[in-house]
Amino acid sequence: MLEQLNQIESQALGELEAVQDEDGLQRWKVAHLGRNSSLMKTFDQLGGLSKEERPAVGRRANEVKRALESALEKSSSSLRQVALQRLLEAERLDVTLPGRTTLRGRLHPATQTLREVYRVFGEMGFQVYRSREVESDEFNFQLLNFPPNHPAREMQDSFYVDSGAQRGDNPILLRTHTSPGQIHAMREFAALNPDNPPPVRIILPGMCFRYEQITARSEMQFNQVEGLAVGLNITFGDLKGTLTDFARRMYGQQVRSRFRASHFPFTEPSAEMDIECFVCGGQGCAVCKRTGWLEILGCGMVHPVVLRNGGYDPERYSGYAFGMGPERITMLRHRIEDIRYFWSNDLRFLEQF
Ligand code: PHE
Repeated sequence: MLEQLNQIESQALGELEAVQDEDGLQRWKVAHLGRNSSLMKTFDQLGGLSKEERPAVGRRANEVKRALESALEKSSSSLRQVALQRLLEAERLDVTLPGRTTLRGRLHPATQTLREVYRVFGEMGFQVYRSREVESDEFNFQLLNFPPNHPAREMQDSFYVDSGAQRGDNPILLRTHTSPGQIHAMREFAALNPDNPPPVRIILPGMCFRYEQITARSEMQFNQVEGLAVGLNITFGDLKGTLTDFARRMYGQQVRSRFRASHFPFTEPSAEMDIECFVCGGQGCAVCKRTGWLEILGCGMVHPVVLRNGGYDPERYSGYAFGMGPERITMLRHRIEDIRYFWSNDLRFLEQF
């Protein structure tokens, strides 16, 4: 019996040396320490032994059991060690490698200018009103006092989406200016109280589209910011005061400005506003084409027809409107010579702002 236990021990320990992994270890444990192993069966047989034999065999069997258990423990922990070592090798990380810098995004220069315009008009109490980019001929032209075939349409060649044949001669087009938003906004405000429409003080930013020959000075896609104020007793003086203040806040307190008479079908009287050239200080240079002045926006008193189309009685209400091009403002500020840079997505250009 004792001889048999010695053999169990040496065979088990011998086999253990060949075990390579956790699975093998598990199988070894079942074979040598499991319920059906020779060692465990020896314990079952103790009862059948003589009084003299039993203590020695029992003691030896316990010894062998402890020896196998501790060998199992040792080999299990060394297997874990080996596995960990292998993992560390495989997933080696060189912490001395320089990191990859993350690229920081930035706002598009036109967006930066737009936000500055929002800030200035926001301080003066104007809300931002978003209007659609796809319009009907009615909103883009007719309600703004451009009758069909009016020559003023010539200035705004359009991208038509359909012929209008199915829509009562009212084709769909990409808006050529932000002015149709004036009608949408006035109607929305007027609907709040049709008998006494509330005052309007908004700016309307967004993309406009014209079917233009693309050159350094004109793109077929560009932003505008429209402004509209409608209420009681609004005069041309309010228009001049507001826009002069805008120019000072945008370009500096000293900047001088002037208004020149102009024409738009939806304003009467109409004007264009110039600011003193900030490149040459009014002396005359290439940027201002030797005039000393830079044109920055068109404006005027809202035409009575437009007020009525918006739901405001021109006998009671008056208002002013203006429209400017943020890309143009950005070009003047940074002396960018070609408007095509804005939407050609060249990082060498965009990263400069
Ligand atoms: N919509 C005009 C344009 O695109 C600009 C403008 C807006 C002029 C509002 C006067 C009043 O040229």
